[in-house]
Amino acid sequence: MAHEQLVRLSATSPRPEAKASTRQRVTKRRDALRARAWQDADSAELAQRDRWPEAAEGRVPVTSPHSRFRRERDCGYAYNRYNQQPSFLSDFEVDLLPLVDGARSIDELEAEVAPERRSEVGPALRRMIDLNLLRWSKTRIPDRAPTVEDLRPDAISAIERPSAPLVVHWEPTLRCNLRCATCYNESGPKAPIGVSADVVIPQLIESGVFLVTILGGEPMVDPHFYDNIRRLEEAGVGVEFVTNGWLLTDEHLERLLDTHICQIMVSVDGAEETHDRVRGRKNSFRRAIDGVRRFSDAGFDITVSLTVLRSNLEELEYMIDLSAEVGAAYMKLRPVVDSGRAKEQVETSEALSPDDVRAYQPLLHRKIDEHGGRLQFIHVSPLPTVGACFCTRDVSDTRYRTCRQGPCFIGRKLAYLRHDGGVAAHAFVREHVVGNITDAPLRSIWQNDDFWADVCP
Ligand SMILES: C[S@@+](CC[C@H](N)C(=O)[O-])C[C@H]1O[C@@H](n2cnc3c(N)ncnc32)[C@H](O)[C@@H]1O
Ligand code: SF4
Repeated sequence: MAHEQLVRLSATSPRPEAKASTRQRVTKRRDALRARAWQDADSAELAQRDRWPEAAEGRVPVTSPHSRFRRERDCGYAYNRYNQQPSFLSDFEVDLLPLVDGARSIDELEAEVAPERRSEVGPALRRMIDLNLLRWSKTRIPDRAPTVEDLRPDAISAIERPSAPLVVHWEPTLRCNLRCATCYNESGPKAPIGVSADVVIPQLIESGVFLVTILGGEPMVDPHFYDNIRRLEEAGVGVEFVTNGWLLTDEHLERLLDTHICQIMVSVDGAEETHDRVRGRKNSFRRAIDGVRRFSDAGFDITVSLTVLRSNLEELEYMIDLSAEVGAAYMKLRPVVDSGRAKEQVETSEALSPDDVRAYQPLLHRKIDEHGGRLQFIHVSPLPTVGACFCTRDVSDTRYRTCRQGPCFIGRKLAYLRHDGGVAAHAFVREHVVGNITDAPLRSIWQNDDFWADVCP
């Protein structure tokens, strides 16, 4: 059945012909993304060879233009917005960074550090190059020392918790063109809009947030969507967003191609009938799948975000194959959370037991093998950026505490910013507000120990 559906969908949804100008833009963007995401193959290849062939060729290490760095009390964090991965840095690596000014050779860098630490310079540079935070330059580019934002608070061990969130999930509005039966924050056409971006954005920037994921509501109904992206990106903050895909037009695609966004998540909640029922609108499945295809064709890295329900358990295999077929790079599956409008559904028919969740894990593992590297699963675990405790309600269950970002995000690196300015630890505990940015700065809310105590023991 899965195969039939796949064929049917392909046959009835021909890939739209791109206009010549769009096609040129797509090619350009793809090239640019490739070049940005990984430093040139040339230097990667060189890095594999002898100890410092780069040095022999007179190359100097220099900061990648899209990297940001933060010093914390006992470590640091870095971020390259084209990888969208916050990385942990050691104290030594952070101390080394201001010396990596684009003018110093490796020998000169080694000469600058204490003799007993000289042997650490090479591995530190190598690691930061591997993380795409630094690259090799053929010519010396003086004055390229990175700005290292100093965010050290006195009280917090940054290894456990940085002084401000690295990633913020922001719902600027709850307005949405759809009104899904399972929506965790009760968004819809008449739901409230949020506090002004003039209040929110300066706080995100001042806090040194690396990446903002815009949710909603539906980001594309927000009249300030592009303005918000522009303001954040101009300040060096990476942006990604999650959409139901319904509203995607050529104009949106054009405008998005003018941003630095690389990653977009499109939500698809099962095969056509299931998705349209859950999303409450006929054709929403086709438009979402079409959205995945068009975004992907335009060079964006697409994640299909699938809420696992009792009613789509049998469709998971089909959805995984279909996502790969229409060009998704990632697939994110997470069980429905009983919040907002989903409460009623979960109470009646859609609830998954921990055993249900465990039961589909072998399918995911099989599919990972089948699709190889072409489709990656962000969360093979039952849950996304939070630990299994939110699924099983068992905080001692650490089996699934691994995900793309490392161990469970709760209370560690992620803050959820509600439309009304309320701050929570995660979307799925968004009712548990620990402060409001209209009353206090995000950083002071974040640094309040009470923030964590109740959320994650
Ligand atoms: C609230 S939506 C906002 C973005 C956009 N309107 C959309 O649907 O993609 C953000 C993400 O949460 C997911 N989601 C909504 N309700 C959920 C629930 N009760 N449990 C798990 N995920 C849910 C959606 O499928 C979507 O991927
Ligand atoms: S899940 Fe997304 S599309 Fe559905 S009502 Fe909520 S915000 Fe809108």
